[in-house]
Amino acid sequence: MTTATLAESHSIASSLGSLALGDNEFEFLRDFVYQYCGIVLGEQKRQLVQGRLLRRLRALGLKDFAGYCEILRRDPQGELGELASVISTNVTSFFREMHHYDLLVDELLPRWLEQKKKDGGRLRIWSAGCSTGEEPYALAMVLAEALERTGSKVDARILATDLSPQALEQARAATYALERMGGISEARRQRWFLRGEGAYEGYAQVHPRLRELVTIQPLNLLHDWPMRGPFDAIFCRNVVIYFDKPTKQRLFDRYAGLLEQGGYLFLGHSESMYGLSDSFDLVGRTVYRKRA
Ligand SMILES: C[S@@+](CC[C@H](N)C(=O)[O-])C[C@H]1O[C@@H](n2cnc3c(N)ncnc32)[C@H](O)[C@@H]1O
Repeated sequence: MTTATLAESHSIASSLGSLALGDNEFEFLRDFVYQYCGIVLGEQKRQLVQGRLLRRLRALGLKDFAGYCEILRRDPQGELGELASVISTNVTSFFREMHHYDLLVDELLPRWLEQKKKDGGRLRIWSAGCSTGEEPYALAMVLAEALERTGSKVDARILATDLSPQALEQARAATYALERMGGISEARRQRWFLRGEGAYEGYAQVHPRLRELVTIQPLNLLHDWPMRGPFDAIFCRNVVIYFDKPTKQRLFDRYAGLLEQGGYLFLGHSESMYGLSDSFDLVGRTVYRKRA
């Protein structure tokens, strides 16, 4: 998690002296973050950015923000993932916005599996902005259960991507503190997790059966995408909240291009496509269906 609180940032600031993020450096950072991550940093974010970046400055042994900006200028791609981790929030949880999973279980997965059994098609779901992995592994749980329930041999996989290297490292480790597993029913905990012992007491690891369903890859949503699709569903939840209107419009158009006809796009609870795209119909709570 990269959620430094204001109290934390003040204590780091005082331990580094009166280091402040000056106008020039903040301007540079705003432009950089917008250009490379699509994230809009308002003036009101200055304190927060300063607090969070001080930690990074310390890790790099830098004396001031000018030095950090110089690193970004010299090697934008090299530091991009770290910066994104600092700027954005990775907050996530298992089965967040449960109604999306209910729709998958009750309606979409049975329909897709039936259809693909007939036409030999593949089932593909993309968790775009997967953070530390809770979303793709929750998707893998409902997918594995649907495959088991129907005895289906359909080729089904989940792609999980994010910009943040730290988040992806945790997603790959697939090991979670028990207290972060509150959204998971007892039956699913028993079925899909291996309880840690010794040094791993208090942790559980995602079952290998789920891990083999999920492919984890670094990907900046603003850059080129290597995959061709088509996807049956894209989960891009609580990601575009940081993007401005043109960035969202471009992204939704690209999602439409990668989805099957009638494919589904799931957004986060405070996100909307209203006035941004003609390619989708709203069919549920922040659930969109690609028009035929
Ligand atoms: C709040 S988390 C959402 C996690 C999960 N989708 C959920 O709803 O619980 C937002 C994630 O979006 C990622 N992100 C932000 N900008 C991105 C970009 N341009 N490309 C890829 N990922 C990005 C962040 O690294 C972060 O992990």
